[in-house]
Amino acid sequence: MHIDVLEKRWIQISIALMAAFAVLIGVAAFAWGVQVPTLERRVDPARLKDDPIWSNPGVREVVPGKHYEVYMIAKVWQFEPREIQVPVGARVTFYVTSADVQHAFKIVGTSVSMQVLPGYVGKVSYTFQEPGEYSFICTEYCGIGHAAMYGVIKVTESK
Ligand code: CUA
Repeated sequence: MHIDVLEKRWIQISIALMAAFAVLIGVAAFAWGVQVPTLERRVDPARLKDDPIWSNPGVREVVPGKHYEVYMIAKVWQFEPREIQVPVGARVTFYVTSADVQHAFKIVGTSVSMQVLPGYVGKVSYTFQEPGEYSFICTEYCGIGHAAMYGVIKVTESK
């Protein structure tokens, strides 16, 4: 079968690109720790207040200074809680769900960004390497008060 030399070259370039992307995905996942938010569990958005976890959202200390869990509810039009505090260098696992419509949870300046859907709990982990204040915002348009959906994570030297 005759393949034109230009066509052959482009087939080689395409294969090389796919190989490069596959390597980059591996590097991002295993060397840089980039992870895709996962669906952690389902939950009834109408009954969050009856749920022992969701009736009291906020920070839970799992291993002092090392691992924390954050339970966060997005609802029109605020995050609950709006402000949290975690120590620098600790692994922080965020569990986020919505009490009503579709929202999103993005921590500005980090790789953390996920959709927040009623009925589902999204999970993503992050380690803050620098102390300071990190804003989180809703990035899915959710109505008139969308722009008011933000909060702050205070990352402290030690807790
Ligand atoms: Cu919630 Cu936009």
